[in-house]
Amino acid sequence: MWGRSVLLLVVLTSAAGAAAIFYRAAVKAPPDPVAQFLSVHWAQPVPPQGDPPPRFTALEASLAPESCAACHPAQFADWNTSLHSRAMGPGIRWQLRVFGQGEANDCLRCHAPLAEQKALAALEYGWANAPTAPMPDYVSADLHLRGNTCASCHVRRHQVFGPPAAHHDPAPHGGFVEQQAFGDSRFCAPCHQFPAGARSLEGKLIENTYEEWRASPSARAGVSCQSCHMPDRRHVWRGIHDPDTVRKGLRRELELKRLDDGRLDIRARITAPGVGHYFPTYVVPKVLISLHLVGAGGERELARQVIGRTVSVDMDKEWSDTRIPPGGNSELALQVAAPPAPYRVEMRLEVAPAEHYARMYRAMLQRNPDMEAATLALLREALRQADAASYRLEAVVVAGPANAGETARAIAN
Ligand code: HEC
Ligand code: HEC
Ligand code: HEC
Ligand code: HEC
Ligand code: HEC
Repeated sequence: MWGRSVLLLVVLTSAAGAAAIFYRAAVKAPPDPVAQFLSVHWAQPVPPQGDPPPRFTALEASLAPESCAACHPAQFADWNTSLHSRAMGPGIRWQLRVFGQGEANDCLRCHAPLAEQKALAALEYGWANAPTAPMPDYVSADLHLRGNTCASCHVRRHQVFGPPAAHHDPAPHGGFVEQQAFGDSRFCAPCHQFPAGARSLEGKLIENTYEEWRASPSARAGVSCQSCHMPDRRHVWRGIHDPDTVRKGLRRELELKRLDDGRLDIRARITAPGVGHYFPTYVVPKVLISLHLVGAGGERELARQVIGRTVSVDMDKEWSDTRIPPGGNSELALQVAAPPAPYRVEMRLEVAPAEHYARMYRAMLQRNPDMEAATLALLREALRQADAASYRLEAVVVAGPANAGETARAIAN
């Protein structure tokens, strides 16, 4: 009897103690359901799906994007045009051929995050931990080459997760779990933000998009990554590779003033009010702004400026960082001898979305001339694609004022 009540007392007090500790913790930091969900959803590594529920059809169990497409054709059509569907292009594949599994798995966590994709990559590249048993039926043979697939973001242990439903139709695949996290910028952070302490240069992380956003006017206004990159929940994810997205993100102003002393004052100003982070956010793209005078005597470049963060091909040195921070601007101002009318000034804008990679690939071709033929072929194709990604926006053109004191300007936004 004695023993038992003493034991009971101990249990009771420790339960009260635990409750008090829990209460204090709860008061300090209320449990955040979005953060809790995401820490499990984006666990590193994403665990294998395991056996599908016995009642699932082969279509419901399949992780292939085409299987989802059977019932979600709109999301598939959009995703298929996005870079998420091409995240396992030749640019990463030639590198995987020369890496060991450890280093490669670190790339795959953002480029092809599912355990099943890593297993297929291990088979393709002959890594030591490649599975010996045949892959389950619900894994299509090319799943690892499909990049950031539907299942990467939506399926864990064969359970579908999605945003709160727009309409409540009965769903196959055992229904789905509604999660606010899908509309939250933190959903994108595991792949678009390096953790504190990861690779950085000049005290700035190599990839810092989520934190840039968090400190931006967009975050304060409640405009999430999804608001801009998934309008109406569309799976398009357009960014620096898309001229229309870049054009709409920017405001470009060009102003000319003919001064009394016979000179022409030229001011160009670029802001990025439609961008929710640095323009551009990553070290890869470069944007070249140039001013040109076009008149009877032909054409002459007056000035040029690169917008971007330029780092060495080995990512061990930062050469310059001229990106436009949220709310900031980039300006070019100069004065020239006023030309005889008629003349015009043009502000041109060239975008090289993959400048860093193109430079890096060229250096690798030079450094490793005797790579394996298959690796070399992928590297050459990656270089071709990186170069081909470049484009120009329409120039901002201002017809030059003819008389002293006159001003002319144009705005593109
Ligand atoms: C599992 C990792 C992962 C997640 C989660 C993820 N992304 Fe991505 N994202 C990538 C990778 C990798 C690329 C680059 C693909 C490539 O070009 O090879 C990319 C590319 C992009 C691009 C294209 C940029 C360009 O260069 O034009 C945008 C925009 C983008 N992601 C936005 C988002 C948003 C918004 C979210 C959250 C809803 C998100 N991503 C979630 C990995 C991810
Ligand atoms: C934290 C997530 C993350 C990790 C880890 C990561 N990447 Fe990426 N990678 C991205 C994102 C995001 C982009 C797109 C950036 C953009 O469009 O500006 C990208 C773009 C690329 C591209 C250019 C697009 C393409 O497909 O040609 C290559 C190549 C690439 N990564 C290779 C690698 C390699 C190799 C590794 C491992 C050493 C790696 N990445 C690790 C997120 C990641
Ligand atoms: C990079 C992560 C990511 C990938 C890859 C992805 N989705 Fe989504 N999906 C989301 C997010 C985030 C939302 C919610 C967006 C929001 O709330 O603004 C969403 C929403 C949805 C919805 C609800 C749409 C609506 O209008 O209510 C469906 C259905 C869906 N996704 C299916 C798919 C299918 C099918 C694929 C592959 C073809 C896919 N998703 C690929 C992240 C992803
Ligand atoms: C046999 C048809 C079918 C297949 C196959 C299928 N789905 Fe669904 N799914 C539905 C239906 C029907 C709903 C409920 C109606 C809706 O919201 O679209 C649904 C709901 C969803 C939702 C929740 C939408 C929301 O509003 O939040 C997501 C996310 C989703 N499916 C993703 C997937 C993914 C990813 C795959 C492939 C791995 C897949 N589905 C395969 C029919 C299917
Ligand atoms: C206010 C709209 C807006 C918001 C919010 C926003 N973006 Fe962007 N994003 C853009 C525009 C416009 C571009 C194209 C210009 C550029 O590259 O900066 C872009 C480009 C990108 C790129 C291309 C790579 C690069 O170097 O610029 C990635 C990746 C990206 N965004 C991811 C994200 C993620 C992740 C979030 C949330 C943390 C986010 N964006 C929030 C508008 C937005």
